[in-house]
Amino acid sequence: MSLEGPSFYDDATIFQNYMKRRERTDTPNDTLELPVVEELLGNVVGQDILDLGCGDGRFGLNLLKAGASSYRGIDGSENMVRVAQANLAGTAGTVSKGALEELRLPPEAFSRVCARLVLHYLQDLTHTFRAVSESLRSDGLFVFSVEHPVITSSDIAAQESGLRQNWTVDGYFNTGPRVTNWMGGKVVKHHRTVEDYFVAAQIAGLVVEGLREARPRREHFTDEELYNRRKRIPLFLVVAARKPPRADA
Ligand SMILES: C[S@@+](CC[C@H](N)C(=O)[O-])C[C@H]1O[C@@H](n2cnc3c(N)ncnc32)[C@H](O)[C@@H]1O
Repeated sequence: MSLEGPSFYDDATIFQNYMKRRERTDTPNDTLELPVVEELLGNVVGQDILDLGCGDGRFGLNLLKAGASSYRGIDGSENMVRVAQANLAGTAGTVSKGALEELRLPPEAFSRVCARLVLHYLQDLTHTFRAVSESLRSDGLFVFSVEHPVITSSDIAAQESGLRQNWTVDGYFNTGPRVTNWMGGKVVKHHRTVEDYFVAAQIAGLVVEGLREARPRREHFTDEELYNRRKRIPLFLVVAARKPPRADA
């Protein structure tokens, strides 16, 4: 049986596997994705930040330590929200449970919105991107990361066991749901092209000002072999899109 995003993370075994994996050194998240997200978010001092699909909230903790004025996390998984609330206890950060497909946000409340590795679980980005755009202040920034489209469009057969040695990208323009074996379960991820993400931001009235593929950088790795492996194929796509300043601003 395959599961949708939040219910996938609410499976006890999968949740445990995921949290254990995130503790490892040199995870793709820490070595590839996070450095680019941080770079695109820029200086967070004084920023009001919304984090969609916030997971365990540790990113929020780091943003607050780095000087963010406020942090609000939203996640659809009960397990994640529970852990995130515990991680953020005693800080200015808040976390609530919510599905991004039904996002309701106050207008012009945030100066930064981020969505790290969650949007490929959504079947349609239209509502979520519009809600993000409306919740951003003039000149505010939306930074999101997703599994790279060459990964979401590569065959799942090769993922059945062991360290993957080759990737077959196929049906790249056949966008839509693909069932993937991951963390000991089957999850539905929605494949989109690079262009689709770009256009979704444009339709929401945002101007894409950064598009990155999380190119590996040696200084982020403790292991040379892993660094070389990560140069084989891009794992992440990271986009920064800005809400244009109001004409009267
Ligand atoms: C791969 S984890 C990433 C967590 C965190 N952003 C990070 O980078 O560490 C994906 C997260 O997205 C959440 N999620 C998936 N689909 C969602 C949806 N439709 N609405 C809200 N949250 C969702 C999951 O519960 C999970 O916590």
